[in-house]
Amino acid sequence: MRADEIFAQHERLNVSLDRLSLLVAAPLDEVLPEGRVRVVLEAEIGTLREALRAHFEFEEEGGYLSQVLKGNPRLASQVDILKGEHPRLLAEADALARTLAQGPVSAMREAVQTFLRRLNGHERREASLLQASPGSSPLAEA
Ligand SMILES: [Fe+2]
Ligand SMILES: [Fe+2]
Repeated sequence: MRADEIFAQHERLNVSLDRLSLLVAAPLDEVLPEGRVRVVLEAEIGTLREALRAHFEFEEEGGYLSQVLKGNPRLASQVDILKGEHPRLLAEADALARTLAQGPVSAMREAVQTFLRRLNGHERREASLLQASPGSSPLAEA
């Protein structure tokens, strides 16, 4: 997969991440009753889970970060670590959905923020490998 295409995918995924960040940052209980907050959070976590699954599939199609490895095979261990994070992040998204189903909405805030930090860390490390690969530029195409 070309670096430009992955950067464009990241931007689409970021919209879903930002929406979830806003949901857990706002004082939701002043805006909506807890039952409605739960429904919205469930929907957003489901949307993010599906977006992530599609995103990881897209990234791994044709060989994960093959462009990076072609230019610098010594980065193979870093690429392997990032690839191994894909199934773990999906499992964490599933765990988030279970947390929401079992506990109060207020307990979700920290769990979602922790998950988003971990996911952002993954995406940042991935982006820096892609930026370092030959011929790639996040601004190359809209
Ligand atoms: Fe990834
Ligand atoms: Fe990614």
